[in-house]
Amino acid sequence: MDNAKLILEGKEFQLPVKVGTEGEVGIDISTLRSKTGAITLDSGYGNTGSCESTITFIDGEKGILQYRGYPIEELALKSSFTEVSYLLIFGHLPKKEELEKFNYDLTHHSLLREDMKKFYEGYPPTAHPMGVLCSMVVSLSAYYPDSPDELYRNIIRLLAKLKTIAAFSYKKSIGQPYIYPRNDLSFTGDLLHMMFAVPSEEYKVSKTVEDALDLLLILHADHEQNCSTSTVRMVGSSEANLFATIAAGICALWGKLHGGANQHVIEMLEMIQKDGGDYRKYVERAKDKNSEFRLMGFGHRVYKNFDPRATILKKTADTVLDELGIHDPLLDIAKNLEKVALEDSYFIERKLYPNVDFYSGIIYRAMGIPTEMFTVMFALGRLPGWIAQWKEMRDDPNMRIYRPRQIYTGCTKRSYTPVEER
Ligand code: SDX
Repeated sequence: MDNAKLILEGKEFQLPVKVGTEGEVGIDISTLRSKTGAITLDSGYGNTGSCESTITFIDGEKGILQYRGYPIEELALKSSFTEVSYLLIFGHLPKKEELEKFNYDLTHHSLLREDMKKFYEGYPPTAHPMGVLCSMVVSLSAYYPDSPDELYRNIIRLLAKLKTIAAFSYKKSIGQPYIYPRNDLSFTGDLLHMMFAVPSEEYKVSKTVEDALDLLLILHADHEQNCSTSTVRMVGSSEANLFATIAAGICALWGKLHGGANQHVIEMLEMIQKDGGDYRKYVERAKDKNSEFRLMGFGHRVYKNFDPRATILKKTADTVLDELGIHDPLLDIAKNLEKVALEDSYFIERKLYPNVDFYSGIIYRAMGIPTEMFTVMFALGRLPGWIAQWKEMRDDPNMRIYRPRQIYTGCTKRSYTPVEER
């Protein structure tokens, strides 16, 4: 493709164009400032590519999501979360012996250092688990050195220990004893066991719940340059250690416009239910510019069509609730809300569709996972994506520290005035 031409103050500049393997077109402005003295402005980075990446492809108009070229629908149906984690991080589907070793390593690194349990003692039971998760992850750096020959082990430690940290934070919040990881359970089965087992009785992991949670983790595993992944790349570009970098991603994910939305979707549905179930009223409120209220779980910066993950999760919600014999009125409210919104011109014009967070909370609820743990589940799923993106950036020989520019619109130069004269 020919260069892009820019005319600025009567002068014409050529800018190279990069075309991706899926036909995406990017104007390379890396020499713009040196050539023209000007920079670009793009609030929220909606039109700015921060990197080239080979990990995840999203076509927002067509509702396509692929991890390393594999459609999410196929991986959801045929793969497992640990296999998808391997695919994202190392770039290929593992051979049998590779997957067996990966799973073995994940199983045998899931214990926390015993003295890390003391960290939990300082938290009130009401502490939000995302805050606990973030501080526990950055504290892993106190135990594990950040060095090239520790890279594989530290990736394994993070993937293996984050679920233990999450389960321990849940047990702390309900005042129950910690349940230690078990080597005879699957990755997801062990997470469920650590969360829901109690010392006094045998806890049998339900296959339905284990499979549904594994699917949820796969669907959340990566999503190209979203807010938390861009945060991971930003912090990682300063060469902060992997644990500090992932802790930053956890903080970004916590926000209600991002990963925190799944918790806010359920709180919204509960509010509608308490208010007599009048979902139409809330659709109208979401359209009202004077109201702060937004339809949580709706809309997306990239998807201007159905989020393929939401489509899968809507079906999964029905299956899981049926298999568990649960009727959750919030699912009916969610489905009615979706139907009304998708027929409303306000949502149609703005191409607002349900996103990954709209139905995920219904399924977590059915599994007995408390609302405050929903974003923690999102973080557990997104961890391999963060690691893969961080590794891709660190392996890039041209990697530079992220340092955007700005256009200054503040006061021009002025002299200091002593306080008596102000
Ligand atoms: C995730 O980026 C990723 O990939 C994220 C994610 C991932 O896997 O990492 O997919 C996960 O974060 C999903 C999104 C979860 N967040 C929510 O569900 C919160 C509710 N959604 C919105 O806040 C919003 O849609 C965002 C934050 C998701 C996207 O915001 P944008 O792209 O900045 O869009 P915008 O705010 O500029 O909205 C465009 C218009 C505006 O109206 P106008 O000013 O044009 O009149 O659409 C309206 C908005 O008011 N709008 C909504 C709305 N979302 C957008 N109106 C009502 N309800 C909503 N949910």
